[in-house]
Amino acid sequence: MKPLGIALLGLGTVGSAVYNTITTQNTELAKRAGRSLEIRRILVKDITKSRTVNVPSHLLTTDISQVIDDPEVDVAVEVIGGIIPAVEYLRDSILAGKHIVTANKELLAKHGKELLGLADKQGVHFHFEATAGGGIPIIKALKESLAANEISKVMGIINGTTNYILTEMAVRGISLEEALSEAQAKGYAEADPSSDVDGYDVGYKLLILGSIAFGARLDLDKINIEGIRRISSIDLEYGRKLGYTLKLLAIAKDTPKGIEARVHPTFIPNRHPLASVSGVFNAVYVEGDPVGELMFYGRGAGGSPTASAVCSDIIDVARDSGTKRACSCLNVKNQLPMETTISKYYVRFSVLDQPGVLGQIAAAFGRNNVSLHSVIQQGRGEPVPLVFVTHEVKEAGFCQAIEEIKSLDCVFQVDNVIRVEEEV
Ligand code: NAP
Ligand code: HSE
Repeated sequence: MKPLGIALLGLGTVGSAVYNTITTQNTELAKRAGRSLEIRRILVKDITKSRTVNVPSHLLTTDISQVIDDPEVDVAVEVIGGIIPAVEYLRDSILAGKHIVTANKELLAKHGKELLGLADKQGVHFHFEATAGGGIPIIKALKESLAANEISKVMGIINGTTNYILTEMAVRGISLEEALSEAQAKGYAEADPSSDVDGYDVGYKLLILGSIAFGARLDLDKINIEGIRRISSIDLEYGRKLGYTLKLLAIAKDTPKGIEARVHPTFIPNRHPLASVSGVFNAVYVEGDPVGELMFYGRGAGGSPTASAVCSDIIDVARDSGTKRACSCLNVKNQLPMETTISKYYVRFSVLDQPGVLGQIAAAFGRNNVSLHSVIQQGRGEPVPLVFVTHEVKEAGFCQAIEEIKSLDCVFQVDNVIRVEEEV
């Protein structure tokens, strides 16, 4: 068979690892793909940049028309990131009849409907395994292996950078900034790391996973997204005392009332299956009927794991296998507002160190039907920290209680609120 002509759009962390995999394992990959894989063009931003991979200079270009107009290029592999110019390059590539492989979750979350629709119209492959979970083959699992299931829940740790940061803050006591620099040096973080730290990267991935799992496109604006910037070592310390580990969780549930989708820092009991998922590792828990419960685990970021996902997509294109129909959102479902969700909460206040304060705050919780699970008041001083963990309560009721407590004279401030999930 004719070789598969590949254009790599981007030669950074992921692009370099894809290049290495295809060139060093060419013979084996060709056997598995049923035809040889040939890199014909590599699009970069700066042709003069020194690179960690040794690439023949004639392959490099800064001109996208050398990809679009080259009849020998069958598939465009987009590992540039961001929206502009990636969206334009993919649109033009699809219109030129090229198959698409992308690792770009932001692009898929924001322009997936248009691009997948266009790919279906043009009859080209559009694969995106690397957009969620790094090296974990979760997208094909949801789209293909679990196609017979009604999926009711997808929940997990789906950002390597923040999981690395939270692990290193808890284990080594280093700051968020130090841990982020390390994650950047290891190639885990996005070009703009606020996408990781502020939770957007997880929001994009949850949109992709939830849309496939529930067969209905989620709306990014309706996903509640909170990042880890407000997490302090004090909260991690209280968490330890309470027997909790802190994780940035993505949670999507298909309920009779609609879809619930949220991303937020979460305390989970140390015995929880996700509590031991550390460093760059990701894990995704899936609940479906008839399959029951499933757990996927692996490296969620970094060049090599991501190259594994990208190359498997390229092999699907070479074999003309995998789901040719790109868009799997066949239904329309209601997405629930955050106020209706039910959760337990950890809340840390700074309060006056005097008798009766605990009672006043507990009474305000009681007036708003917020039942308390535990309380920690240690040390002396002005102000003194006071920590509560509630039982399950509707978000709206909890927020009302907090507003009332904030106005008490004995309360300096609400230092932090973190949701608690006891069950998977
Ligand atoms: P990166 O290291 O920043 O690499 C980006 C590459 O794109 C560079 O080679 C850059 O060229 C090129 N580029 C940037 N702007 C361009 C433009 N206007 N025209 C042509 N080329 C341009 O990024 P990365 O970490 O590899 O991530 C790439 C994508 O994979 C992103 O969508 C990211 O979300 C996704 N992803 C990353 C990981 C990970 O662990 N890093 C994991 C899964 C998915 P120069 O080299 O000339 O600057
Ligand atoms: N920045 C992302 C992460 C890359 O840390 O998970 C993988 O998608």
